[in-house]
Amino acid sequence: MTGPVILVVGARPNFMKIAPIHAELERRGIPQILLHTGQHYDENMSKVFFDDLGMPLPDIYLGIGSGSHAAQTAKVMVEFEKVCKEHKPSMVVVVGDVNSTVACSMVCAKEWIPCAHVEAGLRSFDREMPEEINRLIADAIADYLLTPSPDGDENLRKEGVAEERIKRVGNVMIDSLFNNLERAKESTIHSDLNIEKGNYGVLTLHRPSNVDEKEAFSRILDALEQIGNQIPLVFPLHPRTKNRAEQFGLTNRLESIPNIVLTGPAGYLDFVALMAESKLVLTDSGGLQEETTALGIPCLTLRDNTERPITVTEGTNTIVGNDTEAILKAAFNILENGGKAGRIPELWDGKTAIRIADLIDEIIR
Ligand code: UD1
Repeated sequence: MTGPVILVVGARPNFMKIAPIHAELERRGIPQILLHTGQHYDENMSKVFFDDLGMPLPDIYLGIGSGSHAAQTAKVMVEFEKVCKEHKPSMVVVVGDVNSTVACSMVCAKEWIPCAHVEAGLRSFDREMPEEINRLIADAIADYLLTPSPDGDENLRKEGVAEERIKRVGNVMIDSLFNNLERAKESTIHSDLNIEKGNYGVLTLHRPSNVDEKEAFSRILDALEQIGNQIPLVFPLHPRTKNRAEQFGLTNRLESIPNIVLTGPAGYLDFVALMAESKLVLTDSGGLQEETTALGIPCLTLRDNTERPITVTEGTNTIVGNDTEAILKAAFNILENGGKAGRIPELWDGKTAIRIADLIDEIIR
């Protein structure tokens, strides 16, 4: 096959996974196209990441934007199919579990284009999460399933996936983290937000299960009001969370949390700087569970499950759900006793993009 390799990004958590792969393919002179579906489009949800990660702007931008799951997925499929017909890629690389991931993997399956899914095999076993559906479908149809950890391999085996499709490569997001830690130290975010290094918590929320239901959102706010009395909390607001708070009439309560520092979505380097110097992270994100484990920062996951169990068994992560008392107990425990020490899982070594590029090289030859 002779066409380029297409690397797909769509939403914020994709950018830090593709950046190191793009750089490694560039270094090897492998022809590639960086394609952005436009699922995330705000400057601070998208462009800032290209700048911070040193990744060139996309070669192709589909401009899909927001919409219902069906509309968003379908629009990506229609546009991505046209791109595939025109550019005849030798293979496509998709990452993570967002709607763009599943849409492009489905196009590949029907166009007979070899497709590699990076971050394959992760399972929360919670089909109420849209991402779980995306993971199941992408892994059922992608040709090469590149996993970050042994639990991923095991999940795929249990689903009957043939051994030759499973390739454990490690965690590529940790490549970006390690590549950029030094640069993140130059961030001025602490002085910009007037917070003291080492003496604050970081909070992120955007899952439908936490922010699309007023009761759940309120339970979390109850906990934050008490944690804020003990330690300042920095809360970069995802657009979805900001919209929901307004819709539920919770904005005033949010702004009145003691010692809360509300900001818009943070750029990559600023956010790494915020995490790295924090006392604890409270989140419902998937990626942050992994980044805090790699940084050795205690993490409380405000969900009932995780598709990244290795961050609990080996790392610094604790699953607490969104019950007020459970969050408070776990947070105060960290503030008093320092939280789990943890260790960095095998193959989260900053060299995953090299292993992925080796595989891509082998596949397209
Ligand atoms: C998506 C991913 C989720 C990922 C998250 C990270 C899916 C199913 N979900 O969720 O897995 O963890 O990204 O952020 O793919 N919006 C803007 N500007 C933007 C993007 C979104 O204002 O640039 C607003 C819109 O009102 C939109 C809402 O945020 O309707 C939700 O965006 P969407 O892409 O549908 O899902 P996320 O919640 O961001």
